[in-house]
Amino acid sequence: MRWYLGFTYVAALMGIAPGSQAADAAVYQDAETGFTFSQYSVQYALGKNLIFRIAVPSPVPAGSAYDTVLQVVAPADVGWAGLAWGGKMTNNPLTVAWASGNTPVISSRYATGHVMPSPYTGASYGRFKTGNRVNGTHWQYTVKCSGCTTFTGDGRTTTLNPKGGNRLAFAYSSSRPSSPSSNTSSFNVHDSFNYWTHDFATAGNTAFASLVARNLA
Ligand code: HEM
Ligand SMILES: *[C@@H]1O[C@H](CO)[C@@H](O)[C@H](O)[C@H]1NC(C)=O
Ligand SMILES: *[C@@H]1O[C@H](CO)[C@@H](O)[C@H](O)[C@H]1NC(C)=O
Repeated sequence: MRWYLGFTYVAALMGIAPGSQAADAAVYQDAETGFTFSQYSVQYALGKNLIFRIAVPSPVPAGSAYDTVLQVVAPADVGWAGLAWGGKMTNNPLTVAWASGNTPVISSRYATGHVMPSPYTGASYGRFKTGNRVNGTHWQYTVKCSGCTTFTGDGRTTTLNPKGGNRLAFAYSSSRPSSPSSNTSSFNVHDSFNYWTHDFATAGNTAFASLVARNLA
């Protein structure tokens, strides 16, 4: 089954008035890594949420490429979860991840059509020695991404606004990749996807570089 979790539909089921979506956005201070994240909690199935946390350096000179730290928390029933940095499936960096035994696996992908995304070398991920786990209820990963906020696609180069809102998208599947220990594994199409505007203005970390140095494995 493939479904689009439109906000109005979900909100109506939950008895939430349109406009109360802001409750899903928050600033999260992560004691474990020391980063301040701008967080968004997005529903992937009724009553089930994925949490996406993004940290950026502050300041970032206008128009320049910059690294991000991404932390994702997924309930154990999530087979794979992907983040699309340009807010759609095609022509932007996709960060796809899943649990393999007790380790989260991060896979860099890019799709030019609505087919299995290919490995993407335009983004690279630095694993943290903290903020990664698989336990009985959740899996969580924390990585530094270089190449997620500036990318080429649709005939132009896009840089996400480090001081404002950026339209992102996620995709979720209940099924696990076929070779979970490999970051080039194939996987099945998503069961749901949706979009949100992520607030990067509250994601700034003045100590970004030193925090990255402290946490990188
Ligand atoms: C085996 C892998 C995948 C297949 C076969 C696949 C296939 C598709 C198809 C057929 C659609 C159109 C659905 C419709 O219009 O009803 C779609 C839409 C979408 N997919 Fe995927 N997909 C895959 C992986 C991913 C991944 C990894 C992401 C994100 C990280 C993603 C994000 C999206 C989004 C956001 C849409 C909404 C339309 C758009 O933005 O283009 N997909 N996908
Ligand atoms: C898989 O991991 C290797 C080693 O870290 C990395 O060089 C490669 O780019 C990754 N591939 C994908 C698709 O993420
Ligand atoms: C399992 O991991 C999640 C996500 O990191 C965390 O919130 C939760 O406290 C962990 N559970 C236990 C029992 O440690």
